[in-house]
Amino acid sequence: MIMALKILTAASCFVKVIFRPTVLGHSWEVLLSHETSLRSFSFKYSIPPSAKYGGRHTVTMVPGDGIGPELMLQVKSVFRYAHVPVDFEEVRVNATSCEEDLHNAIMAVRRNRVALKGNIETDHNLPPSQKSLNNMFRTALDLYANVIHFKSLPGVKTRHNNVDILVVRENTEGEYSNLEYESVKGVIQSLKIITEAKSLRIAKYAFWLAQKMGRKKVTAVHKANIMKQGDGLFLQCCKEVASHYPQITFEGMIVDNTTMQLVSRPQQFDVMVMPNLYGNIVNNICTGLVGGAGLVPGANYGSKHAVFETAARQSGKNIANKNIANPTAMLLASCIMLDYLKLYSYATSIRNAVLASIKNKDVHTPDIGGQATTVDVTNNIINHIT
Ligand SMILES: *[C@@H]1O[C@H](CO)[C@@H](O)[C@H](O)[C@H]1NC(C)=O
Ligand SMILES: *[C@@H]1O[C@H](CO)[C@@H](O)[C@H](O)[C@H]1NC(C)=O
Repeated sequence: MIMALKILTAASCFVKVIFRPTVLGHSWEVLLSHETSLRSFSFKYSIPPSAKYGGRHTVTMVPGDGIGPELMLQVKSVFRYAHVPVDFEEVRVNATSCEEDLHNAIMAVRRNRVALKGNIETDHNLPPSQKSLNNMFRTALDLYANVIHFKSLPGVKTRHNNVDILVVRENTEGEYSNLEYESVKGVIQSLKIITEAKSLRIAKYAFWLAQKMGRKKVTAVHKANIMKQGDGLFLQCCKEVASHYPQITFEGMIVDNTTMQLVSRPQQFDVMVMPNLYGNIVNNICTGLVGGAGLVPGANYGSKHAVFETAARQSGKNIANKNIANPTAMLLASCIMLDYLKLYSYATSIRNAVLASIKNKDVHTPDIGGQATTVDVTNNIINHIT
């Protein structure tokens, strides 16, 4: 009974936004008619806040656990040096925080509409009632699209070259619905929720992004041979949206084959779209492909809010406070954030400095085979800022 109620509650939030594919056909032209050029991954469904107080923006900063706080210090010093007109409102949430602390952080993001976030540690040994705060944070803000651009970086040696993949992950349902029950002793039901509304929403986003970025192919990752109904619906929604984009090639690929294809021939992928858990796995494979967790930024978009973070959602607590964490991923995340805020020239100048610095192997942190410290890297980046 409780379970049925919870599913109903979960489902009721979707009802409002359900539209049939036939209806979708119409709204399509309207959606695509007046597009402005895409800067980075910001998108029209998510309108950035305008600046206040003399052209300055206020952004929520959630440092989180592990290396989060020290990465935020690097962002702050680079922003200070580059005179970026952004003020941070810092909100502390960590592994030991209660739901009220999280609620305060969520309220702060609702207010500022943009956040830069570190990862909050989740203790697996806590009772099931203790949900992942990161997950609660994303669902409360309905940050439905997780978007990561995986691109080989010059100066970082990896097994594969010329990787350039955009991964769009559904971020609010699927296996992350927090619906687990022990129905009979020794029997757990762990529910994966796939809805038409949210599948269409993420598929629309993926194709919209593919078109904006001039991409040629979208691959939908699924396991519809086994989960015929759930993943079947997801795949069907992707096909439906694909039919509105005849110029973009569409393919479905089973998740197990996808992981094998990624590690053997990653260049075959262009844009990828998938449900939540597959996105988590594919993102981590792709992160490894282009050099690791210290290098890749990520973004999460909802219709009203945007939260920027590192692609690999790890707190890095084993390397915390040693001045060896690679600041690249968080600095690049801050650049996507600046683009989102339309502070293009600041974003470009910091991004170029980060990319110029990475070409110099003498200022690589240990994660990518160097001996430089976090602060060495930041200072080198600052030297490259014009
Ligand atoms: C977590 O946050 C609380 C409150 O801000 C703070 O007192 C505590 O030291 C923090 N714990 C860790 C491990 O950072
Ligand atoms: C796996 O993907 C490759 C590359 O797209 C494809 O050629 C192959 O047929 C797929 N294999 C299976 C078993 O689906």
